[in-house]
Amino acid sequence: MKKYLAVFMALVLALSCMMIFTACDGASEKETEAPTNAATEAGTTAEANGEKPVLKMGTNAYFQPYEFYQGEEIVGIDAEIAAAIAEKLGMTLEIVDMEFDSILTAVNQDSVDFGMAGMTITEDRLLEVDFSISYANGVQSIIVPEGSPITCADDLYAEGASYKVGVQLGTTGDIYATDDFGKENVTTYSNGNEAVMALAGGSVDCVIIDNEPAKALVAANSGLKILETAYANEDYAICVKKGNSELLDKINVAIMELTEDGTIAAIVAKYIK
Ligand code: ARG
Repeated sequence: MKKYLAVFMALVLALSCMMIFTACDGASEKETEAPTNAATEAGTTAEANGEKPVLKMGTNAYFQPYEFYQGEEIVGIDAEIAAAIAEKLGMTLEIVDMEFDSILTAVNQDSVDFGMAGMTITEDRLLEVDFSISYANGVQSIIVPEGSPITCADDLYAEGASYKVGVQLGTTGDIYATDDFGKENVTTYSNGNEAVMALAGGSVDCVIIDNEPAKALVAANSGLKILETAYANEDYAICVKKGNSELLDKINVAIMELTEDGTIAAIVAKYIK
């Protein structure tokens, strides 16, 4: 009887051991499975999902035809060239709209990958960021009301002249006008449209702004004209965080290819007739 009991006990012991091991096995399976799943989830990058990684562009979208709102969407020459660059990089473009004078900071703080905003390459900006090769030329123009005593750029510098100039904050128009006519004669606005509203309302005598946006602003507001003499000539480029040569090199190659195959010219022709 004792013998049977011992065999029975041994069997029970063996069975429960098997169950424990199975349970342990199950648990360990789950444990190893769980991290695997978590790892896959965490590692589920956009790419693994078939989505492309995001390339963020900082701009100020009140600058037709380079960047402006069409409904909810930001369109324009820069927006389209940037999308073509992103495509070449295998990335999806995301455009972040901000004040023009915040773009360099945003680039340097990595809140965007690059800045593109009809932005002129200047010595001072080169101290803060790196610029790509230029993809377009810009001209600073002067907008005045019809019948204005200002008939050419030189009139602004005439003996005894003291005109009030409106500009977009932080633009080359702002920088040059402040240098030439003094801070007290320059009023800064958040965008070109606000500057032109001030001009139409008589708070400033002229607005200095890039030529293509000037054309769009004059077309949208009656009683204004662009003077024939330009105020300054400049080159537009994309800026990246200082030292980000990895991205800059890719952008430069893309700009070269998009220039060579006529993509950039076609985009420009679509917006500038
Ligand atoms: N070209 C000028 C500059 O670099 C004006 C650019 C303004 N751009 C804009 N998207 N609001 O200062």
